Amino acid sequence: MQATRREFMYVAGAAGTGLALFLILPKAFDSDSDGNGGGDGAAMVGVFPSVTVALLSALQDGVPVFFDYPLVGQANILVKMGEPVVGGVGPDGDIVAFSKICTHMGCPISEYQHDLKALGPCACHYTTFDLIHGGIVAMGQATQNLPQVLLSVEGDSVMAGGLMRLVYGYDNSLEGGELVGGSV
Ligand code: FES
Repeated sequence: MQATRREFMYVAGAAGTGLALFLILPKAFDSDSDGNGGGDGAAMVGVFPSVTVALLSALQDGVPVFFDYPLVGQANILVKMGEPVVGGVGPDGDIVAFSKICTHMGCPISEYQHDLKALGPCACHYTTFDLIHGGIVAMGQATQNLPQVLLSVEGDSVMAGGLMRLVYGYDNSLEGGELVGGSV
């Protein structure tokens, strides 16, 4: 079976080195006949930068922090939601971060509504994303969730260490621009 780009599977996690590894498996759902993982679907391995994007002690409920990740110019929003959320980190499990690039046609989204815990509406075609439930589309034209930044907390540092899903317009999260924090 020929895999499509959408079948790429990203697996990210914090490694003991402080770096996050991910795998791109172009034939992720193929089982090769000899079972040794070889063949033309061999995995490529890349490394996300691990960078501090906010200070835990400075975060306030509902006050967003903005940062670029993993490439310079790829804008994200980090919010302490005030209640436990999908993928949330920190003592209360309520800190999440998402790409601010709309998954419909790539417009930057500047509006965050803390009363709705939502990013949007996008200024282009009004899509709004639910940040409580992993960045799913709450309303509007988009059909894809927002890419979620994989966060961890080390002391007072809130660290970004990976990205779940692709930013609109990119087919590789680690190429097409300058990595935040320089080379890893
Ligand atoms: S680009 Fe955001 S809704 Fe179309």
